[in-house]
Amino acid sequence: MYLGFFKDTNWRHALSVENVVGILEKAVEAEKAHAERLKALAKSISHPVLRTLLMGIAEDSAKHAIMYEAVLEIARGKIGILSPEELNAFRSEVSHHIEVEKRMIEVVEEALSALDDPRAKLILDAIRNDEIRHHALLLTLKDVVAERDTIEEGEFWTQVWSGSRQDSRHYVIGPRSRPG
Ligand SMILES: [Fe+2]
Ligand SMILES: [Fe+2]
Repeated sequence: MYLGFFKDTNWRHALSVENVVGILEKAVEAEKAHAERLKALAKSISHPVLRTLLMGIAEDSAKHAIMYEAVLEIARGKIGILSPEELNAFRSEVSHHIEVEKRMIEVVEEALSALDDPRAKLILDAIRNDEIRHHALLLTLKDVVAERDTIEEGEFWTQVWSGSRQDSRHYVIGPRSRPG
């Protein structure tokens, strides 16, 4: 069982850097294993809503593995600085992805208005919320990252991160648009 490490790691009391790194490494593996097993279960289920919900947890778990890996890098003292090449790549791509997310909001809203089944609407509404968040986050990143020549650490990223957790300040599309 991949959560066994919580029992034999005295992580609440002995938080040396080595211990934290060890816990994070195990958490990465635990999340990946959890995601794979959930995905296998989801694929075996024919009910579309139950399958979707399980798959959603699996995808979140895969995302948590990536997030733990980021924390690991920070815990190991590795703070990546954006290179000029990376910054250029971001600048040239971000507008494309903003447009794609915008189109995805339109697509999901078309589907929402065309279908009456409450189960379908439930799933489509969840997609719509995600797409609004993606679109808003990319707009925020374009604002704060793409326009800058130097990317500073610390408070800057704290603000970007907390902005990314909030909903849709930029969202102005479609009949259901939310207030600014
Ligand atoms: Fe998780
Ligand atoms: Fe999206």
